[in-house]
Amino acid sequence: MTSINEQPIPAARPVIGEDEIEAAVRVLRSGRVVQGPEVAAFEEGFSHLVDGRHCVAVNSGTSALHLLLLALGVGPGDEVIVPSFSFAASANAVRLVGADVVFADIEPDGFGLDPSAVEAAITPRTAAIMPVHLYGHPAAMDRLMPIAEKHRLAVVEDACQAHAAALNGTPVGAFGAGGTFSFYPTKNMHALEGGMVTTADAELARTLRLLRNQGMEQRYANEIVGANMRMTDVSAAVGRVQLAKVEGWTEQRRANAAFLDAHISAPNVLTPPVAEGARHVYHQYTVRIRGDRDAAMAKLTEAGIGNAVYYPTPIHRLKPYWEPDQKAGRTWDLPETEKAAAEVVSLPVHPSLTPGDLDRIVTAVNALGESL
Ligand SMILES: Cc1ncc(COP(=O)(O)O)c(C=O)c1O
Repeated sequence: MTSINEQPIPAARPVIGEDEIEAAVRVLRSGRVVQGPEVAAFEEGFSHLVDGRHCVAVNSGTSALHLLLLALGVGPGDEVIVPSFSFAASANAVRLVGADVVFADIEPDGFGLDPSAVEAAITPRTAAIMPVHLYGHPAAMDRLMPIAEKHRLAVVEDACQAHAAALNGTPVGAFGAGGTFSFYPTKNMHALEGGMVTTADAELARTLRLLRNQGMEQRYANEIVGANMRMTDVSAAVGRVQLAKVEGWTEQRRANAAFLDAHISAPNVLTPPVAEGARHVYHQYTVRIRGDRDAAMAKLTEAGIGNAVYYPTPIHRLKPYWEPDQKAGRTWDLPETEKAAAEVVSLPVHPSLTPGDLDRIVTAVNALGESL
């Protein structure tokens, strides 16, 4: 039970502080509000998070994925290998460019794409692999990149949840042909809404810049067909404020996670695995509940501990994927995905947790005891 003076601890707490407000007002007063100097400065600043890669800012993480697939020429007739254990945006971007989604399972001891499942899913139509760095933990890029190279496939990293995560010292978004980030308010850093595409390829970066702005570099001299996926300078200014803080916040998330790892001892609650060489940035602190998850979540909620399932329905079971697959008589064998979707619960790990909040989370989780 939450006592009278104990407020519920939210699952996430987006920061919109005085610095963010001042930055937004400064831009509004300047009159330069769309894809101006703030966006250029945000791109430049963000490139330091991805080993100096070119950065192209857009209006959402979904747009970032969409634009990157378009720029790579992925389209009708192509297949892209995607985990079903992700947010729908990962697969939606593939369908939006007219390509087919091929789902591959995740690893049994993690939440990222299983390289052997990926290799088994490759066909002559495969154009790309999309590892998702789910919850802020890097996918197995050390094993996925050699597979992509062997089969000459593009790697599109969905790093929307994983700002500043890394594997063996290489930041996510710096492995594949391109990486994509989201700046939605609940992410580890935000820009109100927004996204970023990262790439080492200058030509690809130019194509991305054209595609986000109607195919124009010079006004009204349209070179290709493009969309409007521009970022506003208000978003970029907020993003720059957050970018300056993200490293400190990340360390706080990691410290919070280390505390939870060390103190959660309920026998049917499995704390999040971390692969060797991985820098997990804990966008989510996601445990597996071996037992009655609904009952466990109800007890946590009663104790004032925010909790949520990301994601209760794997993408292949969502209507826009399930129905066409049913019609075509296509089934996916994704036992680890199904298992994870049935077991996961994310607990608060955000940087504004106090030591008292962390104690309360541990107490509530351990009180689940063996009753699950
Ligand atoms: C894994 C993943 N991919 C893509 C996206 C899409 O990002 P956005 O919400 O900024 O469009 C998200 C954001 O929720 C995400 O979590």
